[in-house]
Amino acid sequence: MAEAGFARFQGNVALVTGGASGMGAEASIRLAREGAAVAVVGLPDDPRGADVVRQITDDGGQAIYVGADVSSEADCDAAAQATVDEFGRLDLCIAAAGILHARYVSGEVSEEDLAADRTAGHIINKPVEFWEKVLAVNLTGVMLTNRAVARRMIDQGDGGAIVNISSGAAKIPMPGSAEYSVSKTGVWMLTRCIALELAPHNIRVNTVAPGVIDTPMAMGLSQDEERRAAFERFVPLGRLGEAEDIAEASLFLLSDHASYITGQILHPDGGIFTG
Ligand SMILES: NC(=O)c1ccc[n+]([C@@H]2O[C@H](COP(=O)([O-])OP(=O)(O)OC[C@H]3O[C@@H](n4cnc5c(N)ncnc54)[C@H](O)[C@@H]3O)[C@@H](O)[C@H]2O)c1
Repeated sequence: MAEAGFARFQGNVALVTGGASGMGAEASIRLAREGAAVAVVGLPDDPRGADVVRQITDDGGQAIYVGADVSSEADCDAAAQATVDEFGRLDLCIAAAGILHARYVSGEVSEEDLAADRTAGHIINKPVEFWEKVLAVNLTGVMLTNRAVARRMIDQGDGGAIVNISSGAAKIPMPGSAEYSVSKTGVWMLTRCIALELAPHNIRVNTVAPGVIDTPMAMGLSQDEERRAAFERFVPLGRLGEAEDIAEASLFLLSDHASYITGQILHPDGGIFTG
């Protein structure tokens, strides 16, 4: 597995879902900078994916873009296989793909879509398709990603490391967004279960559960001056998180610096959970 030191991931191959934007894009770039070849996985035809790959290759790194819908088992399996076909192995994974609500795609939240979700509101009113869509991407998608990569890691026989991106919402109930909170709590429990199942193969699985991070998903808050200022007053460290904060926490858990850590949850959230 990855050597501790400057280029912690030299010789490793990583698969990152949600890699076309936000935290996944930042983590992909940092993994490549530290020596990993990276399969940047995102929705088919997401033009941002090519930009991430270009940024990595312009910097002298190795990367490919793989289009996949993580709620599809066939897509997850094909993405893992494409990674092995291209780079010869698969050692590391960050499962960052996720949606905030049923109509969210990533940075493209129309007022109309938001209004539809807000009108649906509480569980007693929400169409069951909204619930199912969020669970399919945020929870089933992480499970399908984890097992597709774990199967390759087990075949290789020399371990591996996986980080699943959950959220502070895993521990804080959010009325009106139950499906999001439930999906992120599910990611946390999934991580603990699969960490025990994969431990005999020396595959470590951990969860990073961010606070509010300045990515496309948090645009509604970050671009509203009043809401942003109010939130920053609430965060003990006094600022929104950046994608870099989450990438660094995730890379630590993937690295050999964390070689005795599995089944854990880490909250890079500016201190929200100390209160
Ligand atoms: N931004 C925050 O404040 C925050 C806080 C806590 C947790 N998170 C979680 O962090 C993760 C990354 O989100 P982000 O903040 O970088 O926002 P983002 O919207 O930029 O990233 C999410 C990525 O997932 C991709 N995606 C969506 N549906 C997909 C599908 N079906 N298949 C494949 N890819 C799909 C999107 O295209 C996008 O690239 C998500 O799981 C999110 O729930 C975000």
